[in-house]
Amino acid sequence: MTIKEKDEKFFGRGNPPMDLEVVKAEGSYVFGADGKKYVDFLGGAGVGNLGWGIKEIEDAIKNGDRPSYIYPNFYYKPWTELAELLAELTPGKLQKSYRMTGGSEAVEAALQMATMYTGRKKILSVEGSYHGNTIAALSVGATKKQEKFPNLLSGCEKIQPPLNKEKLKEVESLLSGKEVAAVIMEPIIINMGVVIPEDEFMSGLNRICKETGTLLIMDEAITGFGRTGKMFATEHFDIEPDILCMAKAITAGHAPMGAVITTPEIDKKVGGEIGLYSSYGWHPLAVDASLAALKYLKSNRERLFRNIEQISKSFQEEISEINFPKDPEIRIKGAAIGIDLQDEEYASNVKEKALKEGLLMNTEGSSLLFLPNFQMTREIVHEGINLLKKII
Ligand SMILES: Cc1ncc(COP(=O)(O)O)c(C=O)c1O
Repeated sequence: MTIKEKDEKFFGRGNPPMDLEVVKAEGSYVFGADGKKYVDFLGGAGVGNLGWGIKEIEDAIKNGDRPSYIYPNFYYKPWTELAELLAELTPGKLQKSYRMTGGSEAVEAALQMATMYTGRKKILSVEGSYHGNTIAALSVGATKKQEKFPNLLSGCEKIQPPLNKEKLKEVESLLSGKEVAAVIMEPIIINMGVVIPEDEFMSGLNRICKETGTLLIMDEAITGFGRTGKMFATEHFDIEPDILCMAKAITAGHAPMGAVITTPEIDKKVGGEIGLYSSYGWHPLAVDASLAALKYLKSNRERLFRNIEQISKSFQEEISEINFPKDPEIRIKGAAIGIDLQDEEYASNVKEKALKEGLLMNTEGSSLLFLPNFQMTREIVHEGINLLKKII
């Protein structure tokens, strides 16, 4: 049987596979079993923020002198070290980290915390968004994707983009009854093709949340750890989240991990009761990977963030030179690049043809989505855009 036949027979897939068998990944390239080299604008859907095969992280995993497993209720020095580092890297008063295995679990925990802390049931989110695939995460995600799930949470309200000053009236009326436990959103909505809320919307949302005792949850599973040109996308705005979700780039793709961080005040009320036991949350191997990835990000911060600015400009310039059939809306924040082609079928055609040409990318609805790593050179950006031009 070929790999495709076996895959089809034994392997459960929620989404159709891309026609590429990967054997290796290095820097900004992915290599196929067909011997072909692919320019990676996909970045493992936001996981690979540093590029592939970072020696410091690989070595930490290979050479780490660690126990096979630590029972969650024991003390373990690297857990405390990682939690302290996350408190340092995240904005505002966020301080207490909980161990998770990924983004969906982090969102689930955040919603549990918010409902327990406030004693309220309702949640407000942004229509069309994605927050993962647990029942709670699906409940706050896009309504369109909910048809096949008959038993989602009730009391989940949604606001429609655009997220501008005018939208605040609706937010005010939804939150004024003080029944909503939390508002959850991505600060820059990468999962909708890099939708950038207006500054005034975000500061107004923050104010209304504080006035009504509604918690503000920033889901930074994909925006976190530099993706939008700041360590956390929250920092683009005048807001103070009460809970922040992390995943993906927390290990730069080297091991599964998630985290949810909150303030000492919220933790004081829920910490003793919420449980959140996770057998594999912050497994020692993943913690070694995460500490190495975050130390690399921190100690190369200036260089990496300068390069994000540079590739951001390169993408802007190069994309605006492409002759698309319809003028696209180009939305870029740091190393998050959305090109809205205003046609979902066309966008997915472009993605498919790009794969054949040797360029990897994602799509979100009618938008092409590029999530390049922060060490990508201008030359590689150019190489990828040239492949795209051929298709267009
Ligand atoms: C904003 C956001 N939240 C949650 C998730 C779910 O994360 P995971 O796939 O680690 O469960 C994702 C994944 O794409 C995400 O982008």
